Amino acid sequence: MQERLEKVLGEYGRSPADLIPILQHVQDEFGYLPQETMDGIAAHAGVPKSKVYGVATFYTMFRFEPLGRNHVCVCRGTACHVRGADQILEHVQRHLGIEEGETTEDGEFSLETVACIGCCALAPVMTVNQEVHGRLKPKTATRTLKKYATADKEEGQ
Ligand code: FES
Repeated sequence: MQERLEKVLGEYGRSPADLIPILQHVQDEFGYLPQETMDGIAAHAGVPKSKVYGVATFYTMFRFEPLGRNHVCVCRGTACHVRGADQILEHVQRHLGIEEGETTEDGEFSLETVACIGCCALAPVMTVNQEVHGRLKPKTATRTLKKYATADKEEGQ
């Protein structure tokens, strides 16, 4: 991990102004921001570690856990909100047993929300691994998630 981190850091100047691009690049490299990279990032950018955490937690695009094998995004944009996105999200959270921004313990699902997926006519919408599922009802949302879990098991056989 250290070697990969140093390679990323080597592409940036030693300046606090580079902190966000560094965080983005580290996340692209590892799929998330591993705790083990925080010291190195802070030292390179010349800022305290608390500042690195502060910036990384301020922006929703950054995550501290790896994504699950199935990445679920529930849309909370206006069109979806009007058509019951909150209920969909609540159902999905209950079904998976995780909150927004978390990954299930078995690493199978991670859950995020987005502002708009661009398929407002299909509201309410969620994506699983970038496949769009629209006109959802709470039950169809959980049924969809079960299909992905099943598909994974079948692939593994
Ligand atoms: S608001 Fe949900 S897809 Fe646009």
